[in-house]
Amino acid sequence: MAKDKSIFTCTECGGTSARWMGKCPSCNAWNTLIEGSSEPAAGKNRFGSVHASLAPTSEVLPLAQIQAADFERHPTGIDELDRVLGGGMVEGGVVLIGGDPGIGKSTLLLQAVDSLQRSGMNTLYVTGEESGAQVAMRSRRLGLPDSQVPVLPEIQLEKILHTLQSRQPGIAIIDSIQTVYSDQLTSAPGSVAQVRECAAHLTRTAKSTGTTIVLVGHVTKEGALAGPRVLEHMVDTVLYFEGDTHSNFRLIRAIKNRFGAVNEIGVFAMTEKGLKGVSNPSAIFLSQHAEPVPGSCVMVTLEGTRPLLVEIQALVDSGGPSPRRLSVGLDRDRLAMLLAVLHRHAGVACMDQDVFVNAVGGVRISEPAADLAVMLAITSSLRGKALPKGFLAFGEVGLAGEVRPAPRGQDRLKEAAKLGFKVAVVPKANAPKKNDKSFEGLTIYPVERIEEAMQVVRGLD
Ligand code: TYD
Ligand code: MG
Repeated sequence: MAKDKSIFTCTECGGTSARWMGKCPSCNAWNTLIEGSSEPAAGKNRFGSVHASLAPTSEVLPLAQIQAADFERHPTGIDELDRVLGGGMVEGGVVLIGGDPGIGKSTLLLQAVDSLQRSGMNTLYVTGEESGAQVAMRSRRLGLPDSQVPVLPEIQLEKILHTLQSRQPGIAIIDSIQTVYSDQLTSAPGSVAQVRECAAHLTRTAKSTGTTIVLVGHVTKEGALAGPRVLEHMVDTVLYFEGDTHSNFRLIRAIKNRFGAVNEIGVFAMTEKGLKGVSNPSAIFLSQHAEPVPGSCVMVTLEGTRPLLVEIQALVDSGGPSPRRLSVGLDRDRLAMLLAVLHRHAGVACMDQDVFVNAVGGVRISEPAADLAVMLAITSSLRGKALPKGFLAFGEVGLAGEVRPAPRGQDRLKEAAKLGFKVAVVPKANAPKKNDKSFEGLTIYPVERIEEAMQVVRGLD
């Protein structure tokens, strides 16, 4: 099919441009535009018949007359996964699981689908990335040599849809959506157009048949394949794997969930026998220092419903003419802002210094409650003085130098007290009442401004 005219589509956000540019005009990502239209050419609706069959004319009704139905949920039996899903897989729901290659997507889904098969559900595992033999090898490794999960090694959309229609499974895994292609489209397999169109078809099939469909998507940096971001708006639930492949811990975070809470996280450890849920994860992101070291400050972050203690590390070192500011797991722009606040309001200058900050264990912290810990870690590194043993801090810091409260501060403090922390510097509004006994053993210093926090810390030397 001849192209009417070239269109360039962004692999990150799906935005389009009439000409190639280095930077996507919609999301400002670099090198993400690739040639190919994401829309079918006008007047040539290749899937006309499918659209027609799935679009019965519906009656218009007032909300009050529509029966509110609860979703039928199927727990996978993997508690940490069920938690992020909001209680289990939902009938007819479409879940997108994204993450770096090798992080454990196929492993987790094979474990989940095997558990569902054992509970009597009809399942289907479509593998486009690996052969059936490789999947079988993984199931042996997972200690599931007797698994009855039906496996379909296939990458052609029409054949997958046909199998879905004929077998009517309760759940189908598509591993991965980037390998699926349709003959009906001219663009290359893995292109944005293909990935989007195939995902749209699978989504429609899920809605019309009630099959739960799980799409696996690789997060790609090069833009050679379409990233899962382009699919986020089509699906019901978006889960992302986090964590660094060098550590054993993996986080799964719900970014979007039409059937549950967002920002809920599931914590897993990668073991010799697959992913195992970590039911009490609050202390796994602390590195073990025998004695306190400069540049380290612990914070409590609240992800979903669970408080997690995370160590923030900073290294401040004399830099060259244009000093670097680097952050891992924290927002870099926010780091620049915090450095300015630190200078202006607390008189701590890092202008000619390289500043590196890191959230230990590959966690990503997006909440501003990390601000205070980041600033104290930086100051500690700059002064070469460690914060005391059992110290923690959290709280958002504003441009005026004020320390703002973090949501559910008392829950954070309770978790810290439970884990034996001794000293906490927290926003005044988060401090518990004087006679509250649930923080026994934890000395709490409420502060209203960043200068005050610095003074408290100096007083502890
Ligand atoms: P995999 O699920 O194939 O990752 P993805 O589908 O996200 O690309 O996981 C691959 C990694 O997990 C690989 O490095 C081996 C490791 N692994 C274990 O450590 N233990 C196990 O039991 C399994 C199955 C894999
Ligand atoms: Mg895989």
